[in-house]
Amino acid sequence: MDKVRVSILGSTGLVGQWMVKLLANHPFIEVAALSASPGKVGQRYGDVVKWFIEGDVPEYARGIRLVSTDPADHRNVDVVLSALPNEVAEPVEARLLEAGLNVISNASPRRMDPNVPLINPEVNWQHLEVLRDFKGPWLVKNPNCTSAIITLAIKPLADHIRELYITTLQAVSGAGYLGLSYLAIEGNVIPFIKGEEDKIAAESNKMLGAMGRGEFTPWGRPVRVTSIRVPVRYGHMASIFAVMDREYDVSEVKQALSGFRSLPQEANLPTAPPRPIIVLDRQDAPQPAKDLDHMAVTVGRLSTSGRVVRMVALGDNLVRGAAGITVLTLEVMKAIKLL
Ligand SMILES: NC(=O)c1ccc[n+]([C@@H]2O[C@H](COP(=O)([O-])OP(=O)(O)OC[C@H]3O[C@@H](n4cnc5c(N)ncnc54)[C@H](OP(=O)(O)O)[C@@H]3O)[C@@H](O)[C@H]2O)c1
Repeated sequence: MDKVRVSILGSTGLVGQWMVKLLANHPFIEVAALSASPGKVGQRYGDVVKWFIEGDVPEYARGIRLVSTDPADHRNVDVVLSALPNEVAEPVEARLLEAGLNVISNASPRRMDPNVPLINPEVNWQHLEVLRDFKGPWLVKNPNCTSAIITLAIKPLADHIRELYITTLQAVSGAGYLGLSYLAIEGNVIPFIKGEEDKIAAESNKMLGAMGRGEFTPWGRPVRVTSIRVPVRYGHMASIFAVMDREYDVSEVKQALSGFRSLPQEANLPTAPPRPIIVLDRQDAPQPAKDLDHMAVTVGRLSTSGRVVRMVALGDNLVRGAAGITVLTLEVMKAIKLL
């Protein structure tokens, strides 16, 4: 099988580090270049990266000399994977596209562009099909980390949901490795994350809706969100109340969630979790310290009352919410012959 050659922008950041890790020994994706901020260009990855995530810097990456974000440094790759900060990403990604390079990006600009698929693979891999009509280079966006976790948790119920009320409890790592000061969050809770609530409502509506050429039809349900930053390192949680089309028995909902499978599972893709939604019966689950899975969402506190389904969902913001989706999207694109 021909290997897909990729480069990683923002490879020294939290999301970038996870991409570097997930792509070590990948059966059909090869890392051809790694990039960081201008001050690190030319230096060896292993010498400058501050490795925050689990395990060690993968051997293959240690000696790679970091390159810039300039298109000339990415000429020999099939897809550029971007984990740049939002404000840096917009002009850099535009230049890469102008130079004819394909991009999959974790940054927020252009997520709601009708020409850009916003992909959470198990939820809406079908939206990638619009790329078959593209003549030139394409841009694919990953959703915001919390939108990724929520849309996966509710996907099996989505056709029957009429309204959603969500409160998120989001880890500090969601703000990047320089994102939030220890003094601001230690022993504290901050009930505001700039732009987050609107992103979750809009992006969920795009991913759960339909996509055609140059247009998308939103899912069309009201999604009301309160986003809260909590002093947890890894793992975003969401307390979800879904108003349904009728009354459901809790066992019916549990079966729908735990039985859910999608193309990544059917095609047995390397990064696909065997069970994308893990329902836990323990009464105090899910907890970030005990129940965090890298690619699956864990769901607990499942109950029904009248037409309301309640659940608490937990997901890994850096992997399911970012790096893991990027890699899984590439794997889906290879499986459906878009690469
Ligand atoms: N953290 C999450 O949970 C999460 C989840 C979903 C999506 N995202 C999105 O993913 C992206 C990356 O997030 P992150 O948390 O990994 O951020 P991060 O930890 O702050 O990492 C940022 C990366 O971008 C590089 N960079 C910064 N300025 C640059 C410049 N001017 N030119 C080239 N490279 C530059 C940094 O390199 P240096 O090391 O050299 O500074 C670093 O590699 C963001 O758009 C974020 O919104 C994050």
